[in-house]
Amino acid sequence: MKRVVSGVLVLACLGVGQFALADGAAETKYRKSVMKSIGGHMSSMGTILKNQIHMDDLVIHARGLAGLADIAPEVFPEGSNTKKSKALPAVWENPEEFSQAMDRFIDAAEGMASAAGTEDMSEIGPAIQALGGSCKGCHDDFKAE
Ligand code: HEC
Repeated sequence: MKRVVSGVLVLACLGVGQFALADGAAETKYRKSVMKSIGGHMSSMGTILKNQIHMDDLVIHARGLAGLADIAPEVFPEGSNTKKSKALPAVWENPEEFSQAMDRFIDAAEGMASAAGTEDMSEIGPAIQALGGSCKGCHDDFKAE
């Protein structure tokens, strides 16, 4: 009981209305936030490589993205295809294809995390291309424009 009460207090302190979002809507919101974070790391890496600035940070973004890739399969629960979601029904209707796209992404994210540490463009270039291809591969089939 004490834990429940303190949990509610923590949420209140964060300004999160505990019952403001139905579960599905909360899941959609969380998924979109995770994808935005993935997008943030991707765009940081693109900017680093294009302009050759902050090269030392590349590995931080690559590892951050790989960590998010690991949790990505969990952010598509049943019932989270709400009005605000751009996920296509295919995510839940073609689970095998979706999971293949997801695996390809996780592998590519891990590949980029190892390549980033090498500081060798002949490794980094193909790795980031494969990673970008894995985003597109999933978005083309599973995300509305
Ligand atoms: C296995 C499928 C899959 C992969 C791989 C994937 N995405 Fe997504 N992404 C989605 C889906 C589905 C949505 C729509 C989510 C929603 O609206 O509920 C999305 C949404 C997004 C959004 C929009 C978030 C928002 O609402 O503002 C961004 C940005 C994004 N993805 C970036 C990326 C990047 C960058 C990669 C690769 C590094 C990537 N995604 C890989 C499926 C994927």
